[in-house]
Amino acid sequence: MSDRYIDFANSAFGHRLVSAIGLPSPVRLERWQAGRLRPIDGALLIGGGPLAQQVGELAKRLTDATYHYGNDPSLGTPWIPGHGPKLKAVVFDASDLVHTDQLKQLREFFQPLMKNLDHSPHLVILGRAPETIDQPFAASAQRALEGFSRSLAKELRDGGTLQLLYVGAGAEEQLEGALRFFLSPKSAFVSGQVVRLQACAAQVQDWSRPLAGRKALVTGAARGIGASIAETLARDGADVVLLDVPPAKADLEALAARLGGRSITLDICAADAAEQLIEQLPDGIDIVVHNAGITRDKTLANMTPEFWDAVLAVNLNAPQVLTQALLDSGTLHDEGRVILLASISGIAGNRGQTNYAASKAGLIGLAQAWAPLLQQRTISINAVAPGFIETQMTAHIPFALREAGRRMSSLGQGGLPQDVAEAVAWLAQPGSGAVTGQALRVCGQSVLGA
Ligand SMILES: NC(=O)c1ccc[n+]([C@@H]2O[C@H](COP(=O)([O-])OP(=O)(O)OC[C@H]3O[C@@H](n4cnc5c(N)ncnc54)[C@H](O)[C@@H]3O)[C@@H](O)[C@H]2O)c1
Repeated sequence: MSDRYIDFANSAFGHRLVSAIGLPSPVRLERWQAGRLRPIDGALLIGGGPLAQQVGELAKRLTDATYHYGNDPSLGTPWIPGHGPKLKAVVFDASDLVHTDQLKQLREFFQPLMKNLDHSPHLVILGRAPETIDQPFAASAQRALEGFSRSLAKELRDGGTLQLLYVGAGAEEQLEGALRFFLSPKSAFVSGQVVRLQACAAQVQDWSRPLAGRKALVTGAARGIGASIAETLARDGADVVLLDVPPAKADLEALAARLGGRSITLDICAADAAEQLIEQLPDGIDIVVHNAGITRDKTLANMTPEFWDAVLAVNLNAPQVLTQALLDSGTLHDEGRVILLASISGIAGNRGQTNYAASKAGLIGLAQAWAPLLQQRTISINAVAPGFIETQMTAHIPFALREAGRRMSSLGQGGLPQDVAEAVAWLAQPGSGAVTGQALRVCGQSVLGA
């Protein structure tokens, strides 16, 4: 469903009116267009500590306009505030900040560029995970990056986003995949996130088709976010298998045909769902996206057992049972990628959604608990937690709540199914085994649960 307020706020008259009376003024976010090759369409500024060198080396594959503060020509052309071009992307390596006193480098680096950012700029700060550092003051300095990043993300204007990546030992090899996502419009609706990268042997071979040769199953793929995930995985080269309930057969088959994929009509809660699924995947699967989900909202006082049971069965029990069966039968290959569609309701809680929020929090817990156990088979498992996304599910929310859901975020608008799909597609990549047991929010830095 379209957000008419954004159209209004971006018209000449609307822009003057909303500015005059102090209403939120969300901008149209720039999104990835099919056929585009370079992640960054404009100037990239690199600075900071030792990882900046590494980023400088891969930067030529991200953009043809790399700049830096200082005089190391290997990092690109020097950038002078007010004279250099507007910045489309920024990477600052803060991994060597180990004293409180050194944190001022954050202010010194970012302040001059805040008024020199292009439309929809994407910023990334690199650090080292505090829990991996023995020295308490150094760990504290690295933890300070989190407060700085989340706050600066809230100060960005014009569709800007900012993330903090904690780069583990040996994970430097996977920086390119992460930066291709976080510095490009693929992460248009992701902001204020903290993501930990660990070493991962697998690598993307071809950045134009990062999922080539991979087979992907998407549940709930007939419409909404699931359909967009299937499209995006297919765009990135995966062979897709689309699953949905029998009543959605026509839509499902039409989409599968368009994507050159296969369809499976199945209720994931059926008693024999696991056997049926395994039978229909004789060649196994590399990527499993548990997207199918339902809401049955009522306050707990009015919650029927049927509403409770239905939500927990579809949203939580089915992903658990099906994933376990795919693992036990060997259907899910080594280096597999499991992605669970959670929700920020599962983080923040939501009135009228005790059942839904319990199911979605359970998925986040599942990713955290299963990740270390699946590591031996180099399988990663993560949750993606969307905020307010414009779909049929959210079109049914009453008007006032819908408006609140859209505006209560740093980006001041709802996301699109494509935004969630891009995050899933990144986590599905071979090199994204670097991320596991985590929950990535795709919520425009919603204030809920932040
Ligand atoms: N739309 C949002 O704002 C939002 C926010 C947070 C999380 N999510 C989550 O994202 C996922 C997709 O949401 P959406 O908005 O596209 O929903 P949607 O209702 O548009 O689509 C859900 C799909 O799942 C399928 N499905 C439901 N029960 C099934 C079952 N038993 N077996 C097989 N398929 C089944 C439906 O037929 C439908 O095609 C859900 O898990 C949802 O909870 C959505």
